[in-house]
Amino acid sequence: MVIVDIHTHIYPPTFVSLLRSRTTVPYIRAFPDAPDSSRLIILPGEDDPATPSTSRGRPVGPQYWDIVEKIAFMDTHKIDVSVISLANPWLDFLPAHEAGEAARRINDDVDGLCARYPGRLYAFGTLPLSAPAETVVAEVERLAGMKHMRGIIMGTSGLGQGLDDPALDPIYAALERHGQVVFLHPHYGLPASVYGPRASEYGHVLPLALGFPLETTIAVTRMLLSGVWDRFRNLQVLIAHSGGTLPFLAGRIESCIEHDGHLKGEGKLEGRRSVWDVLQKNIYLDAVIYSEVGLKAAVDASGPDRLLFGTDHPFFPPLEDEAKEWTSVNTNYQAIKVGFSGDEKSVHDVLGNNAVRILKLDGIHS
Ligand code: URA
Ligand code: ZN
Repeated sequence: MVIVDIHTHIYPPTFVSLLRSRTTVPYIRAFPDAPDSSRLIILPGEDDPATPSTSRGRPVGPQYWDIVEKIAFMDTHKIDVSVISLANPWLDFLPAHEAGEAARRINDDVDGLCARYPGRLYAFGTLPLSAPAETVVAEVERLAGMKHMRGIIMGTSGLGQGLDDPALDPIYAALERHGQVVFLHPHYGLPASVYGPRASEYGHVLPLALGFPLETTIAVTRMLLSGVWDRFRNLQVLIAHSGGTLPFLAGRIESCIEHDGHLKGEGKLEGRRSVWDVLQKNIYLDAVIYSEVGLKAAVDASGPDRLLFGTDHPFFPPLEDEAKEWTSVNTNYQAIKVGFSGDEKSVHDVLGNNAVRILKLDGIHS
């Protein structure tokens, strides 16, 4: 049996230097009341002055940038292969004229990290999405020829207007042409107002547990409504966190479309692909949902051959320093074991065989 982790992040050294050089979100810095520990501040609102500096963002250490720590984590959790990806917010915040060069530097850096552990590491590349579309397409083309790259990771903002923006079409076309999987991952959550005036009392729970999955669900639904998968019928998208809430809400989304007089009047209900069709032909879901309840919804929506194990390392570490195995990881292992109890083939498929097949992890045998 081979175990492949397809949802596992890194901030490579080139990106860490960039974050350390900044003073607005996203950035890494130590605060005067705890000068020996750096904190990673990435999410919108995380440097709210109402939050004490020692609980802003999260403590950050070598788990976030040292590839040796990634391999140690893999060994501890019996993970054979990891498909690493730059963590949020990727390069979204860079000015247009810096993004192309930064993407090339970071992608080269990550490909080089993979080369240090042959057969154990592959990667999803990063796109310079604040740059003009031609620069983005050029990086898609370059990534397609890189040894360890197996697709790209991106957030929900696209070129600034979201993933239903027609200006993304040349990029979707390039990704489809090269058979590169898009790993779609949230970052922005929901507008801060929905978390309410007491949000700072609740740590990261509302943005991470709900903001992230809803952001993802809205982004994918906008892609669907704008006909992305009608125009790019072979575009493959791997959605983080088991699709946000897409598997659970797919029926409601489909029903709302079918009952929409505006869409009917515009002729947009003719010949469109249903959300169910897209879920079964164009969408892969990770198994990072921490419960067999959510996992079952994902399997029912997309099938056991389209579900892939992940950890979200280095996020969600144990709060007690001494814990060796991570509860967040074991909860996902357990959900797969319980969710597919009596179906060993599906367990093996989700844990690794699907990733080997879908991402063409050559030389890896189950
Ligand atoms: N928090 C983040 O900011 N990103 C993740 O991928 C997980 C948790
Ligand atoms: Zn993640």
